[in-house]
Amino acid sequence: MRIAIIGSGGREHAICQKIYESKKVKKIFCIPGNGGTSKIANNVEININNFDEIKSFLINKNIDLTIVGPEEPLVNGIVDFLTNEGLKVFGPDKFCSRLEGSKIFTKKICKSENIPTANFKIFKDKLSSLNYLKEKKYPIVVKADGLAAGKGVYICENFSDAYKAVEEIFKGKFGKAEEVLIEDFLVGEEMSFFILYDNNSFKIFNTAQDHKRVFEEDKGKNTGGMGAYSPSRLNNSKLEKKIINKIILPTLKYLKNESGKYVGFLYAGLMINNNEPYLIEYNVRMGDPECQTILPLLKNDFIEVLNNCLNGTLEKINLEWKNEKSICVVLTSKGYPEKFEKNILIQNLENLKIKKNEYIYHAGTKSVKNKFYSTGGRVLNFVSLDRSFKVARDKALYLIKALNWKNGYHRNDIAFKVIDNL
Ligand code: AMP
Ligand code: GLY
Repeated sequence: MRIAIIGSGGREHAICQKIYESKKVKKIFCIPGNGGTSKIANNVEININNFDEIKSFLINKNIDLTIVGPEEPLVNGIVDFLTNEGLKVFGPDKFCSRLEGSKIFTKKICKSENIPTANFKIFKDKLSSLNYLKEKKYPIVVKADGLAAGKGVYICENFSDAYKAVEEIFKGKFGKAEEVLIEDFLVGEEMSFFILYDNNSFKIFNTAQDHKRVFEEDKGKNTGGMGAYSPSRLNNSKLEKKIINKIILPTLKYLKNESGKYVGFLYAGLMINNNEPYLIEYNVRMGDPECQTILPLLKNDFIEVLNNCLNGTLEKINLEWKNEKSICVVLTSKGYPEKFEKNILIQNLENLKIKKNEYIYHAGTKSVKNKFYSTGGRVLNFVSLDRSFKVARDKALYLIKALNWKNGYHRNDIAFKVIDNL
């Protein structure tokens, strides 16, 4: 088969690597890919929002299957667009992608289907939002409705924080805002829960916990993700049943009733409190860095899994997972998520000795004349599997140390909740 992958992050390199391992695959193209994917696939420089150019490329190259990694093209309707041209695409349609594209859309489904989530209210103007915020207990959460690359969520400790949030949102910091979402602060611990869905049946695609904050002990600014571990320590069969029955099934039923077509990953961001799940948000794709953490655990031929998903025969597949723990530590450019330098040479990368069950996935890198340079905030993902989380993390940290990239920064405490740090 000839495969195209849309995206350029660590998630897409992990997908590319897994597909590369399949005997069914002859050729892979990454649009636009990164330094890592360039070694096992052909990178193609097309803007991921230029659907016309992507379509022409896929047709010209006789692509059998296109996998969409990131949310933006999904929310903009790339699946509907390419499917209408007769192309096979892995990802949900535009209607279903609203689960991630509009937080208010998801909240309305929660309300109509009785899905456990934080209590919320939607306001159309600043004045009524502020009147409500004056009466509320803090902390409280203020959210912009649309895609905001993880930045449209404000956890407000007091009225003055909330005032600023409402003002920024209505001033258009995240695009024209007609509404704002205000919700109660949920207490508990977060878990990322994934399913694979073929629009008929679904399979659980493992769990993870990510670390979004830049500094150790989960302090500092939010980032795209500094690392993750899988499976989540919170998961158990009782909880899983509740997540499926109270959250996943009612959502899938709603989408189906509205004639949505969902073929892809669904990622539920959950808050777990006393073994009860509450939906924080949906994403219509794999998580990053959760994808890099989870995919190496999968034993199946990934292309076979995806083909069954596209053919509506996912039910026939038995997903098999390695009986190991996985840890991903992200190496970022120094200064990320604020100011950082780009185009810094990463020496030594090719010389690192990678053992079995160790993986390095590229994110913000490019390859020029066989040398790698950084191009973004999150640069490399070091993933390691082992029977013990502690050993897995030690191995990932050892590789980072061996790389010794002077412009790099990483956290040493990824997965601290499952590893005794003393
Ligand atoms: P998001 O950008 O939607 O992924 O949200 C970012 C983060 O904000 C989530 O991962 C949670 O840590 C936090 N968050 C969002 N909504 C709530 C809530 N209602 N209560 C507590 N934390 C929240
Ligand atoms: N790990 C968070 C995300 O992918 O949105």
